[in-house]
Amino acid sequence: MHLVQTAYHSRSRLGSDHRVMLQGLRDILSIARDRNGATGVTGYLLYDRDLFAQVLEGPRAAVEAVMKSIRADKRHDTVLVLGHRPVLTRDFGAWSMGGGTRSIEQQEVYLRHGFSQALDPIRLSLPKLVALAGDLARLESQRRKIMA
Ligand SMILES: Cc1cc2nc3c(=O)[nH]c(=O)nc-3n(C[C@H](O)[C@H](O)[C@H](O)COP(=O)(O)O)c2cc1C
Repeated sequence: MHLVQTAYHSRSRLGSDHRVMLQGLRDILSIARDRNGATGVTGYLLYDRDLFAQVLEGPRAAVEAVMKSIRADKRHDTVLVLGHRPVLTRDFGAWSMGGGTRSIEQQEVYLRHGFSQALDPIRLSLPKLVALAGDLARLESQRRKIMA
């Protein structure tokens, strides 16, 4: 099966109320996990201040269909696609949609990738986002193993 990977960033419209924002993000991740699980899409969603940055991967038609929904979603705007590429294997095969807000535990990973301040969209590219999200996903996997 031909797999593609795509990435974009966008501005959140979830608002500045922290609780409302967290609930909004939980809702997004919950819908994403259900639908992606059913259509073979995997990936990772970062949220830092008011910026979303997401990697999606899977069969081309499924990725295109979900991108169409995402583009039309009023919970964010200024969606800017960073690129698409064919891939032989998935980078986020274990994640129907991983991710969440930037946390203290993740700080070191962001620093290692050169993002000491808020995630700067100007400095994001598809490979850079895949590398950062991949390290965040690995950190999360390790943390879950320790907790189990
Ligand atoms: C930042 C952001 C990321 C999202 N990521 C996904 C995703 O990975 N998969 C998904 O099915 N929906 C995702 N959604 C939700 C979709 O925009 C949409 O609400 C949902 O897929 C239902 O599709 P429909 O509105 O076309 O019925 C995301 C929404 C936002 C705002």
